[in-house]
Amino acid sequence: MTKKPTLAVVGATGAVGAVMLQILSQHADIWGEIRLVASPRSAGRKLAVRGEEVEVLALGEDVFDGVDVAMFDVPDEVSEQWAPVAASKGVVVVDNSAAFRMDPDVPLVVPEVNPHAARVRPRGIVANPNCTTLSMIVAVGALHAEFGLRELIVSSYQAVSGAGRDGVDTLRRQMQLVAGSELGTSPGDVRRAVGDDTGPFPEPVALNVVPWAGTLRDDGWSSEEMKVRDESRKILGLPDLKIAATCVRVPVVTTHSLTVHARFEDEVTVDRAREILATAPGVVLFDNPAAGEFPTPADVVGTDPTWVGRVRRALDDPTALELFVCGDNLRKGAALNTVQIAELVAGEFTS
Ligand SMILES: NC(=O)c1ccc[n+]([C@@H]2O[C@H](COP(=O)([O-])OP(=O)(O)OC[C@H]3O[C@@H](n4cnc5c(N)ncnc54)[C@H](OP(=O)(O)O)[C@@H]3O)[C@@H](O)[C@H]2O)c1
Repeated sequence: MTKKPTLAVVGATGAVGAVMLQILSQHADIWGEIRLVASPRSAGRKLAVRGEEVEVLALGEDVFDGVDVAMFDVPDEVSEQWAPVAASKGVVVVDNSAAFRMDPDVPLVVPEVNPHAARVRPRGIVANPNCTTLSMIVAVGALHAEFGLRELIVSSYQAVSGAGRDGVDTLRRQMQLVAGSELGTSPGDVRRAVGDDTGPFPEPVALNVVPWAGTLRDDGWSSEEMKVRDESRKILGLPDLKIAATCVRVPVVTTHSLTVHARFEDEVTVDRAREILATAPGVVLFDNPAAGEFPTPADVVGTDPTWVGRVRRALDDPTALELFVCGDNLRKGAALNTVQIAELVAGEFTS
């Protein structure tokens, strides 16, 4: 019998890492040893995976000995330093950070959209897209395959866990500061109540929305908006796709939502779009205007698919569709897609 491949999870103690361990415990058990790795701060901690307690190792060259595939869920600079080290030891790295996504020698993969890309990896690294792009791209990719995409205009409603554990802790602290109060009725009152405690966000996120995510560039676009643009183009293989994104942070713990205006080559019908979305792998069409039933983050959180509702044809353009999509940013938006890529790669070791 072929030996099952050995997997390392680097960043096992983080927000994405925790979800990854849950998913590994739920999916078919295709792995031999699963090694858990984090910073020296976490060395010796025990975490549960596949029903067993596994000790966390401190990141270092030795942890990659005998490893076939490593999933990296660590900050960009840690991936930048350590993914090439792992790759130089023959490990196939599936990286969740932004460090390699736009490297022409690193494929950017969504298994439902461009699985073939994972096979060509000159640097031994496969990149996982950012969570905002991932929360919509499976649905958009399915429509593109039939209709041919020309333009995308999206607005995101991004959950605080997209900024890691710190984002979630910040929202929870702020919610305690504003709970049961009359705040939100006069300019600046929420900001005064929260004070400097804005965590990874530039403004209070409790009782508020923050009209940019990531860092702002000189031309006014944010890093998150550029990621949506650049990564969607790369995944879909459409380098000239017209795309504009406005990324907004909202007081939701987990699950990103987006409104999508998608323009295609020719006229589209809602009926055909619904048929495509209803049968696309990884997509759930949940669109019942008569009953007022559509996806919301509060219902979608903890689930795997991309949920789509509010499917309409644009009133002024018969070639365009309007959609509302929700995806759990820690599952499909991060951990699940990474696991799916790692499973694709693992197939090469066992086939
Ligand atoms: N959150 C999301 O929705 C999301 C979505 C897509 C992609 N991502 C990306 O996934 C990565 C992880 O994000 P996250 O949200 O899980 O962050 P997080 O909750 O802050 O966790 C960070 C993880 O990295 C580890 N780490 C930090 N510095 C390290 C070092 N010097 N050496 C080894 N390990 C180190 C931490 O270990 P300790 O616990 O020991 O500090 C922890 O396991 C980031 O690149 C992020 O951009 C996140």
